[in-house]
Amino acid sequence: MQLMGTFKYIILWLASIWKAAHSLFYLKWTIRNFTDNATECHHCLTGKTAIVTGGNSGIGYATSVLLASRGCRVIIACRRDATQQKEAIMKLTGNNQITTKRLDLSRLESVRQFAQDIAKTEEKIDILVNNAGIGATSQRVTEDGLNTMMQVNYFGHILLTYLLVDKLKVSSSPRVIFLSSLMANVHDLTVDNLNETNFKMDATKTASHYSNAKLCSILAAQEMSKEFQNYGIIVNSADPGIVKTSIFDSSYSVDLENHWSTKIVLECLLLLFKTDAYFSAKTILHLAASKDLEAGSHYFRCRVFETPSILKDRRFCSEIWQKTKQLLLIDS
Ligand SMILES: NC(=O)c1ccc[n+]([C@@H]2O[C@H](COP(=O)([O-])OP(=O)(O)OC[C@H]3O[C@@H](n4cnc5c(N)ncnc54)[C@H](OP(=O)(O)O)[C@@H]3O)[C@@H](O)[C@H]2O)c1
Repeated sequence: MQLMGTFKYIILWLASIWKAAHSLFYLKWTIRNFTDNATECHHCLTGKTAIVTGGNSGIGYATSVLLASRGCRVIIACRRDATQQKEAIMKLTGNNQITTKRLDLSRLESVRQFAQDIAKTEEKIDILVNNAGIGATSQRVTEDGLNTMMQVNYFGHILLTYLLVDKLKVSSSPRVIFLSSLMANVHDLTVDNLNETNFKMDATKTASHYSNAKLCSILAAQEMSKEFQNYGIIVNSADPGIVKTSIFDSSYSVDLENHWSTKIVLECLLLLFKTDAYFSAKTILHLAASKDLEAGSHYFRCRVFETPSILKDRRFCSEIWQKTKQLLLIDS
């Protein structure tokens, strides 16, 4: 019985990938992954201040290094003490303007405290990189009554961005970047499961919540871009490709039913499409610094890229966006 369940699960996974592979998006993505180079961005960022959530690890760390190497002040916002990473970035780039601040996206109170701290200490924020994320969790619901995976990967960043909007408005060229993923293409998002709190903790649900959060990140960039247009804030989302970071190991360490089959699928994807964290962070740097951007778009390898077709459904996007704001008590 157990074997049959696992077999069924693998078939479901393969079917999802097959579905994605059949879409034009996936074909183009695959071809570009092998053939294209990210463009080089040489803009000077001296005088700019960036916040990188999860800037102490993986793609966020590489982003912090790239921003710092162009003279940007970088505030690394993360859960753990990041003194070591801060010193490593200073040494690597010769830029001493690196700060670390505590932020736990799984607690909205921590998001509010972080934003209050920024309000007191910073005149303006030029670049906000909503990068932090998890691939799995053993916690179903947060103290805020939200789905933990959705809160860390999506809701927390939405609240953070709204709380920082006054600091972004005063920048001469403010940017907000959301990190998404190829996984957004295998979402099963509906208005009803946006904040699913009663579910079986297994690998299938984990993959579904991760994919939904990553779809929501693209949707957030689309919607916020329109909302913040009058303030000159450019909001985009980025697909970093596939990079071997600690998100994989920390996800594998969560004890979930059928998790080993997810591991096989992810390791196969890594084997086929793996890129380097710095290479992948170039798209984020491009969105942070380039003067030639299409606001509200999704980028891969420094270029505008197709989004999952559901995001062309205005009614769906508007309903998800309104419900997100309702859940976070944001009225704007
Ligand atoms: N790696 C890939 O192949 C890939 C592909 C597509 C998209 N992405 C996305 O890229 C982003 C970065 O991932 P990564 O691969 O660089 O992973 P990573 O190395 O594991 O980094 C994740 C970062 O998020 C932080 N974080 C986790 N939970 C947090 C919380 N509750 N509050 C604040 N910070 C928290 C972590 O901080 P701690 O060190 O304190 O845990 C860490 O700095 C994620 O959004 C991920 O979904 C990655």
